[in-house]
Amino acid sequence: MSFFTSLTKRSLSQTAAMSAAIKNVTVIGSGLMGAGIAQVAAQTGHSVTMVDIDEVAVTKAQKRISDSIQRVAKKKFGGEVEEATKFVSESVARLTTSTDAVASVSSADLVVEAIVENLDVKKKLFAELDKAAPSHTIFASNTSSLSIAKIADATTRKDRFGGLHFFNPVPVMKLLEVVRIPETSQDTFEAMRDWGKAMGKVTVECKDTPGFIVNRLLIPYLMEAVRLMERGDASAKDIDVAMKLGAGHPMGPLELLDYVGLDTGKFILDGWHENDPDRELFQPSPLVDKLVTAGKFGVKSGEGFYKYDKK
Ligand code: 3HC
Repeated sequence: MSFFTSLTKRSLSQTAAMSAAIKNVTVIGSGLMGAGIAQVAAQTGHSVTMVDIDEVAVTKAQKRISDSIQRVAKKKFGGEVEEATKFVSESVARLTTSTDAVASVSSADLVVEAIVENLDVKKKLFAELDKAAPSHTIFASNTSSLSIAKIADATTRKDRFGGLHFFNPVPVMKLLEVVRIPETSQDTFEAMRDWGKAMGKVTVECKDTPGFIVNRLLIPYLMEAVRLMERGDASAKDIDVAMKLGAGHPMGPLELLDYVGLDTGKFILDGWHENDPDRELFQPSPLVDKLVTAGKFGVKSGEGFYKYDKK
């Protein structure tokens, strides 16, 4: 039997004017990031609706969440089986799923979008949600590379729009980047930041600049590692061992690129290169391009710089 119940309409009283705290959260997109955000929101007491385009995607995400939440419970409660079981069942009971994005926002305090990194697709989605969501609902994108301002352009609520950028794996990584555009109101910014804290994250504030803080530093570093390897200066394994043991990183850069997804890394870099073609750090990597063209995206496809059991 599935842990998850189907989408039910929440009571109208829950759609009342914006309260201090965000309670009802809709997460659009059930990929790695969307599922992780939905999971952590449910674990931290929020009422969550996770949305994707079809049941296949939703079912896959439910399986991932079930596995991950067991790991979280084990870490949190150790051998206390009863407490762990209660934590898991209460968390999943707070999580409903839907394949109807428009219906899913009718009582949302916050919508977090984590769908495909395509500006037009995101704008189309938000334009539709803007018509359906209550006026108090805050909209946020988890985009890792697109301009929040350009996405917000599709809506009539730029003052209630911002970026909430999480890190993979969401249940483990402690950081949340809270991104504001010039129109983001102080109330909206504070509500997003406070929600991040309620999710158990440490928040940092950032303007709507390419890569925000982490990716602006991380992606050029990862690509420099690929270039080091492409030049034949060191092997993938030695580069990874070096950064783990010499710099104390949990993963080496090539392992991390496999983990994040070579396609994601390439997408981010290509976007920056297009906007700033002369910047050396943003130059495309022929090796990454070749691997992505061959469908070698890293962990998720079973091969990148290394080979994995296919997920
Ligand atoms: N769900 C729940 N718990 C998880 C988990 C998941 N998906 N993945 C790992 N964990 C838990 C494990 O249960 C384990 O708990 P324990 O300490 O009680 O044993 C703990 O995390 C460590 O996991 P593992 O023992 O399996 O493996 P590692 O010690 O190697 O840690 C890692 C795995 C947390 C992924 C670590 O290697 C790491 O921090 N790597 C770097 C990840 C990173 O940099 N992420 C950011 C990428 S950039 C990004 O996301 C932005 C985007 O826009 C591109």
